[in-house]
Amino acid sequence: MSEQPDVPPDNAAVVEGYDEYVMPIWKSLNVPVDRASGCTLVDFEGNEYLDVFSGISVANVGHNDETVTEAAKAQLDEFVHGCSYVHPNGPVVELAERLAEVTPGDLQKSFFCNSGTEAVEGAIKLARKYTGSKEVVALEMGFHGRTLGSLALTGNHSYKHGMAPTINDVTHAPAPYQYRSEYGDRSEAAFAEAAAAELERVIGTHTSGDLAAVVVEPVMGEGGIVVPPADYLSRVADVARDHGGLFVLDEVQTGYGRTGEFWASDHFDVTPDILTQAKGIANGLPLGAFTAPAEIADAFEAGDHLSTFGGNPVCCAAALATIDQLEDGAVANAREQGAWLTDALAELEALESVGDTRGLGLMQGVELVDPAESGPGDAPAPAADLASRVGDRLREQGVVIGVGGYYKNVIRFQPPLTIERQQLRRAVEELRAAIETEQR
Ligand SMILES: Cc1ncc(COP(=O)(O)O)c(C=O)c1O
Repeated sequence: MSEQPDVPPDNAAVVEGYDEYVMPIWKSLNVPVDRASGCTLVDFEGNEYLDVFSGISVANVGHNDETVTEAAKAQLDEFVHGCSYVHPNGPVVELAERLAEVTPGDLQKSFFCNSGTEAVEGAIKLARKYTGSKEVVALEMGFHGRTLGSLALTGNHSYKHGMAPTINDVTHAPAPYQYRSEYGDRSEAAFAEAAAAELERVIGTHTSGDLAAVVVEPVMGEGGIVVPPADYLSRVADVARDHGGLFVLDEVQTGYGRTGEFWASDHFDVTPDILTQAKGIANGLPLGAFTAPAEIADAFEAGDHLSTFGGNPVCCAAALATIDQLEDGAVANAREQGAWLTDALAELEALESVGDTRGLGLMQGVELVDPAESGPGDAPAPAADLASRVGDRLREQGVVIGVGGYYKNVIRFQPPLTIERQQLRRAVEELRAAIETEQR
């Protein structure tokens, strides 16, 4: 066999290889990454980027956190795979016990899988098994994943084009999107009441009224960082339970400190019947979970559900180390830096193209608009092209940021929770400059 020359890949070679051999499911961001640490990504030519998106809100305790890496390496040396449901292992039990401690209320038993979409799928199955009902209600603009069950819950056609049908028996109620409210200009409490009444109306008119679950994100991530009014989630929980269903909170994106509390539900003083998790759980190693009180979890019988890789000991060891790091200061930093970021972004509202800024902790959005055109909910028209150009310009300036939302016009700040003030300040300054340049 001839020896291959040992040529290190450059950025172009990696992008070309990706284009040729990886399915074209995502427009290339053109930031190939060779290595990473903290909030810094380094490409194959040594260029550094400040990452304020964390690989879609995943590297919560910073890229390549040493403690997490060491924990995973130590477990690699011991035992890599035996299927946790065939050969119970130490890390999976330790993690399940830890989740019972850190999750709210009497949530106690967890199922482990490999991703957020699987966590949502499993939660639907458990809710159906426990209640004996099939119907599920979710929210318009919500995002819960891309496999056919979670995709059915996702309230956004752009993820479904050409791939329907998904599962049946899912109905959507309006999102609590106050900036583009369809209920007129109301106080936060009145808006929460109107949105909950809409949910009740949708259940009354579009379902049998016998629910397995109402599934919501406490703060919508892909929908555009939509924060509900204070009382909304507890009203949703009441409505779900009044109809015999479970209240399922999808904390895949909001959990693990993202909003400045360990769970976003902590801000709203609600306890779900099932809590779904993934993304930040193991700081980048593939792991998902859903957790329920014993009474609900025990509706599953042996053989009802399984995942070959779920509860992989290396991922569980990484998750335990991640939770340590979160409790050791990362969540507190998210709270502190998030408070600063909220104020700093609010100042951007003086720019004519900034319609709204909103968020909790280090999950913050800047909604860009065209002030000359009117759009949904009596707010100015969404400016998706501007948002895309702003994202591109930031990247050229060495800052990786998210661009998304139902209308694709929201700039998303979701940095590692360990980010320092001067890094955040730089990102906000670059964002201001990019909007000022691109809005002309
Ligand atoms: C709230 C929510 N649920 C589920 C998912 C799906 O997670 P995954 O991409 O790990 O399947 C996501 C992903 O963005 C999400 O934000």
